[in-house]
This record gives sequence, C-alpha cells and structure tokens, in this order.
Amino acid sequence: MRVLFATSEVTPLIKTGGLADVSAAMPAALHGMGVDVRILLPGYPQVLKALPHLQAATEIPIQPNFPAARLLAGSLPNGVSLLVIECAELYKRGGGAYQDEHGLDWPDNALRFGLLSKIAALLSCADSPLDWKPDIVHCNDWQTGLTPAYMHFSDGAAPCVMTVHNLAFQGVFPPQMVAKLGLPAECFQPDGVEFYDNLSFMKAGLYYADHITTVSPSYANEIQTDALGFGLQGLLAYRREVLTGILNGIDTTEWNPATDPNLVQSYDITDISGKSANKCALQKHMGLHIDPDLPLFGVVSRFTPQKGVDLILEIAPQLIALPAQLVLLGTGDIEMQRIALELSHNYSGQISAYVGFDEALSHMIEAGADIFLMPSRFEPCGLSQMYSQRYGTPPVVHATGGLIDTVLDCNAASLKQGVASGFVFHSMDSSSLLATARRAAMTYHDKKSWQALQHNCMVKNFDWNQSAAAYHDIYTHLMRR
Ligand code: ADP
Ligand code: GLC
Repeated sequence: MRVLFATSEVTPLIKTGGLADVSAAMPAALHGMGVDVRILLPGYPQVLKALPHLQAATEIPIQPNFPAARLLAGSLPNGVSLLVIECAELYKRGGGAYQDEHGLDWPDNALRFGLLSKIAALLSCADSPLDWKPDIVHCNDWQTGLTPAYMHFSDGAAPCVMTVHNLAFQGVFPPQMVAKLGLPAECFQPDGVEFYDNLSFMKAGLYYADHITTVSPSYANEIQTDALGFGLQGLLAYRREVLTGILNGIDTTEWNPATDPNLVQSYDITDISGKSANKCALQKHMGLHIDPDLPLFGVVSRFTPQKGVDLILEIAPQLIALPAQLVLLGTGDIEMQRIALELSHNYSGQISAYVGFDEALSHMIEAGADIFLMPSRFEPCGLSQMYSQRYGTPPVVHATGGLIDTVLDCNAASLKQGVASGFVFHSMDSSSLLATARRAAMTYHDKKSWQALQHNCMVKNFDWNQSAAAYHDIYTHLMRR
C-alpha cells in the first residue's frame, strides 16, 4: 500500500502545533505496519536547512499561474520518506510556515498552499512526473484542502482522505482565486468550493474527499453542530456516513520520561521519584521560588481564545493564592503575551512566563509541573494533555472534543476503580476553572490519592498502534471500492 501524506508542517522540521507532531508520528506508525508512506511538505528554509542532503527527485511540469517548482527526496529522522517541494518564490523567506515575522499571514498563502495541494493531486494522477504512484492521498487541514478538488477534476486519481485537525482555520480567499488556482469555474458553487461568496480550501476538501476523518470521536460529533461546525456543520452532517473520528496517538519515543534528554532526571511508572528533581530544575530555570511542596501548575499552549489561556491569566492571582505556582510557555495573541509577562513581573517567584516557542522547555514543563492546565473552549484532539498524563502530570481540562476522550475526571469512584486521570470541568468560565484547579491542588496534598492518580495517568497507552490501524482500515476500504 502506497500512501502520499500531504501536510504543511512536520516535527522536527517545522512546527506550530499538534499537526506537526501527528504528521511525523502517524506516518511512522503506518510505515511500521508495512505501508510505503511518503510525506509531501513545502520546502520552507527551516526544512532545507535541517536536511541539506535532499536529492533532486523530479521537475514539476509548469502549472499555469504557479511558479516553477521541483521535488526533492529524503527522509525524516524517524526514517519516513519525505518529498519536499522546492519553490523559492513561494517558500524561501523569513518568518514561519503561515505568517511573517510580525505574525501576519503571508498575502500569497492561497498560492503557497494551492501549490502544495496541486502537487499532491498531480502525484496521484495519470500524468504524474514521478514513477511512484500512491494508492491513497491523505490530506491534512485547509492547507491541503484543494487536493481533493483538483483530483476530482483529473484523470486516474487515487482515492483521497481528508483529515480535519482544526475546523477553525479554513483557508478562505476571494473568489478571483478560483481561476488563478486553476480550478474549473463550475466548482464555485455551494455544492463545491464556494463558502459565503468566497473560496474555502477546507470546504473543498470536505466536499470532494472520498473519506473525512477528524482527530477524536467527540470532535467528529461536535463539528456537525451549530456550536462548533464553523459554518460547515451542514456539509459535515450531510457527509456523516463517510466521517470518522479517530483519536490521535502520541510519539511514545519522543515523549518518554524514562529517556527524554530534556529532563535532569529520568523516571518511569515503577519509580516516579525522579520527577521532583525536574520540578526543582523547572522552578530554578523559570526563576520561581524553589519549593517542593507547593503544587506547580504548568501551561504549554498557543495563546489563542481556543485554548482558554485568557481564563488562566484571569484566575492567575487567585490560583497562586491557593497557594500554588504557575509556569506558562506560549506564543500568539499579543495581548495575552503582554498579560502573561506582566503577571510574571508582578508575582515574581510565583508566576513565570516564557513567550516564544521552545521545544525543550515544553518537555521540561510536562515533566516538572505537578498539574497541567488545558481549559480549551474547543479541542479537536489535543496532544499536550496526553503528554502530561504520560509524564505523571494530571491535567485540568474543559469537557470538550478530544479532552473528553482522553481524560477521566478524578472523584472517589473513579479513583477507586483506578481510572481517574485528571480533572474535568463543564462550564467554560473562570470560576469553574478555578474551582477545578483548587480541587486538583487539594488532591495533590493528599499524597496517597495523588500517587494513585499519577499511576493511572502513566499506565495509559496513548501510542499510535490502534489509531494507525483504523486509518489503515479506511485506506483498505477505499482501495477496494
Ligand atoms: P494545537 O495543535 O491545537 O496547538 P496540541 O495539544 O495538539 O494543540 O499540540 C500542541 C503542540 O505544540 C504540543 O506538542 C505542544 O508541546 C506544542 N507547543 C505549543 N506551544 C508551544 C510553545 N510555545 N513552545 C513549544 N511547544 C509548544
Ligand atoms: C490541531 C488541534 C489539536 C490537535 C492537533 C493535531 O492543531 O487544535 O486539538 O491535537 O491539530 O491533530
């Protein structure tokens, strides 16, 4: 089975969030199952710099309105094959994958990800320039949303799967882009790529894909509702027969407290005592008072309304009055960044924030914090709460999406049954978050319960095996059709 996995970010080359981690770990799991999977990725400078030995694979025949491009071939550190699109005009620039240095979306994102979508489609069709032809094309989020549309209007295309990682980002562009991106005028209608008079990459993917998946069973239901469908709930409900929620796994090698090189002391479920050295190291690193007994709350998050970081900032003074400490790592919304740094300054020693993207620090927080905070308003899957459980750091989460599917609230009954794995609140407001954080802090001081809870967290299996098998089943089904 040959699978082309098209994505706009992949760990450790370029990452803004969970999509990058999934784009490395899921293909690796499929590879382990014997699937010949190749990742297709834009050649951002970060990618070309990290992989200086990529080999030229093929020139891409000129696509009308797109600059010239060629494919380079190589592999990820985890051994999965990689195809990189080299196109200096669209990808060779400073900044990040989607935005410039000032956090503004690149004005030519429609072309940048139109080209990614176009090449993914091209490689699966009769006139592909490559010898290798996929049996399945697997697209991820809006950046590859046009692929199913291009494939629909091409000869000999393979079946395709579209995975929604986050419906909040849709890639919506003015209608003039339909012609510029080489899409036939006939697809610009409600039964097609049109979305409130604009072109929507995400809608294109959802409309034309042979199968749609999203990253947790709960989110698969939620996106069919007005509350979380972001305007696409009608289409998703209409296509529910081919919509499957498959929970993400995590890379259990990369995220393993027994071997993590970012930790000052390793630990595992048989001996968790090494966690306290990591707490001390984190307190030191972040300029907090060294105190082994105060519960230390940790946050690693994009700073956006999605993640409920605003609620954390709002309750921060009350949180540390529990008493407790708070450490935050994140980047995004300018105002949230400012407040986090201000809190850090005003409550020095008790609250500490680092604004930026720091992979090593994210691991240190998962290991060194006692309790992880993730009060997302919505959460398609969420990886951080799985990482935290694996590191014996029970999470406090809002009951939504993948958080419901991965965290079981701690109470007398669930503790007794040995299934409690965190703290869940239902009403998305600051008082519920604070009350639940307080409940977590109280449990933290009850050492016997806390150890039982940590044990339940660490014993859970979040690896990719089961979920990769579920994707494999979908591929097999599509190939038989
Ligand atoms: P999302 O993809 O919505 O951001 P996930 O929980 O699925 O949420 O994945 C977030 C990933 O991004 C995790 O690997 C987390 O550690 C990482 N991350 C988020 N913000 C930062 C940051 N500022 N520095 C380092 N890693 C971060
Ligand atoms: C998105 C979602 C997150 C999910 C990740 C990987 O960024 O916001 O919930 O875990 O994709 O699928």
